[in-house]
Amino acid sequence: MGISFKEVGHKYRGVKRKDITIALDNINLDINECDEFITVIGKTGSGKSTLISHMNGLLLPTEGKVVLFDKEFTRKKNRNPKLKPIRKRIGFVFQFPEYQLFEENVYKDIIFAPKNFGFTPDEIKDSVLNVCELLNIDTELLKKSPFNLSGGQMRKVAIAGILAYNPDILILDEPTRGLDPKTAHEIMEVFYNIHKKMHKTIIMITHDMNIMYKYATRTLVMKDARLVYDGSKEELFKTNSYKDYHLEKPEVLSMIDHLNQRLGLNIPYTVHTKEELLSYLMEVRVNG
Ligand SMILES: Nc1ncnc2c1ncn2[C@@H]1O[C@H](COP(=O)(O)OP(=O)(O)OP(=O)(O)O)[C@@H](O)[C@H]1O
Ligand SMILES: [Mg+2]
Repeated sequence: MGISFKEVGHKYRGVKRKDITIALDNINLDINECDEFITVIGKTGSGKSTLISHMNGLLLPTEGKVVLFDKEFTRKKNRNPKLKPIRKRIGFVFQFPEYQLFEENVYKDIIFAPKNFGFTPDEIKDSVLNVCELLNIDTELLKKSPFNLSGGQMRKVAIAGILAYNPDILILDEPTRGLDPKTAHEIMEVFYNIHKKMHKTIIMITHDMNIMYKYATRTLVMKDARLVYDGSKEELFKTNSYKDYHLEKPEVLSMIDHLNQRLGLNIPYTVHTKEELLSYLMEVRVNG
């Protein structure tokens, strides 16, 4: 098992003793080390970022235990195992990761973590070329200062710095937030290919229900610090419970509902995107 939560709770303490926020409440969860594409969704403040911050030791549970690749983490800090080998296997891309770029050129920024994890010079060179190809980063940019790039390019460079050390599991906090649709699509396809071709597990927070519905193989819903749903995206929208979780229906499902009601069709929720819906309708037309 890659990541496992056993009755995990997390309380944030404020300056005053009585200021306590329960951000995670009795979470139980098992995530495979390969082949999952998990989206974490839920209203703002529901505990999503707190949840994923426990998945590579950025935060420790205040109750229960988190197991990361067979290493147990609890609130007793001094007994916890070393984090570096875990962080090598579980890469974490923060929200707005471009804020963390700091080197004088793009190349140095991308190699920072691989160098830190002990990659040889040859491995470093290979990994840079590899991620540039994967993310469609022009190698001409490597010499430039990261601060002279566009927002989309900066985001890609920041993500490249994590992909460069080839973690088994990739965790991302709203990776498409603030990006133009083209760049958002481009980087989503990169994550999808990493998942599909390299069998990696991706765990991603998103507020974009269309992205969730296109890519997820499993969906976690957080509400008021609790994990209220862990299952398939199709089942999630078959009843009205998604409304209790303050979620919007993905656009394709509203279109499917409309077409099914108006035209008496029976289009299934296994149609995940508008493009797939169009193909489905063309086929219905051709085949009668
Ligand atoms: N460092 C902190 N100190 C105190 N309270 C915090 C801290 N970080 C988060 N919280 C609180 O914990 C709860 C969960 O926050 P969290 O950031 O995990 O939510 P989220 O689902 O990621 O929200 P968003 O969608 O806005 O990013 C919220 O009530 C938040 O105000
Ligand atoms: Mg958050």
